[in-house]
Amino acid sequence: SSEFTDVSEYDLPLDTKWEFPRERLVLGDRLGEGAFGLVVKGEAFGIFKDNNSVTVAVKMLKEGSTDREMMDLIREMEMMKLIGKHKNIINLLGCCTQRGPLYVVVEFAPNGNLRDYLKSHRPLGSSFACVSEYERPTVAMVPNNSGSSIAETKEQKALTPKDLISYAYQVARGMEYLASRQCIHRDLAARNVLVAEEYVLKIADFGLTRNLQQFDYYKKTTDGRLPVKWMAPEALFDRKYTSKSDVYAIMHSCWQEDPNNRPDFNRLVQELDKILTSSL
Ligand code: ADE
Repeated sequence: SSEFTDVSEYDLPLDTKWEFPRERLVLGDRLGEGAFGLVVKGEAFGIFKDNNSVTVAVKMLKEGSTDREMMDLIREMEMMKLIGKHKNIINLLGCCTQRGPLYVVVEFAPNGNLRDYLKSHRPLGSSFACVSEYERPTVAMVPNNSGSSIAETKEQKALTPKDLISYAYQVARGMEYLASRQCIHRDLAARNVLVAEEYVLKIADFGLTRNLQQFDYYKKTTDGRLPVKWMAPEALFDRKYTSKSDVYAIMHSCWQEDPNNRPDFNRLVQELDKILTSSL
């Protein structure tokens, strides 16, 4: 077959447990774009058994993608089916596999990624915050999905230490669950954590197949950062990715040279829970 293939020419097996009729899915704006994939916002009518419409995120391939990229998206979908549901991960809601391009329908997180969220809600006391109340009106420049910025003029709540510990706790809960399902993320970073309603954090992109043989140490993230800066040494130098290498993304106390000395996610959940329920 040719290297570039029209995605709709694939015949995928029907999985009635997950198949969602594509005519009940209305695609909207682009949310994000990776090297090969595309994520767009959508409205799914009746995806939760009632007839209501639910805002969803839809993963699909870009035009001119390769067979390998198609296989990676299929693998990601199957991985999400196997992993099962948890509050602190982006859950699979359904998929459109028949008579058209593959759409993987997942939960939509209305407040974007944690990295941008943290930057636009800087806590007081940080060198960037200069007002004395927690509630403060701001005109934050929030990057939109096309890479440019839009002015957002709404009341923004500055984050408290308790909020931050709660976020760490939720990330640890999500990662604890993924680790319990033998899933290793390999790219845990704030940009891969999404902020849903009511400050619920959800780990995203845990089902991605990452080609670790051809890992490019110099490849920057979309905003020009080098992910190597928060990679565990054994993942960086020896390509040893484990649940322990995922933990390294989290914080100072976890930065032990020897992976065996780092806490696991269960431990982090316990520790963060203790902090949350005590003094804060
Ligand atoms: N960008 C990429 N995936 C997303 C999702 N599930 N929700 C919101 N924005 C996203």
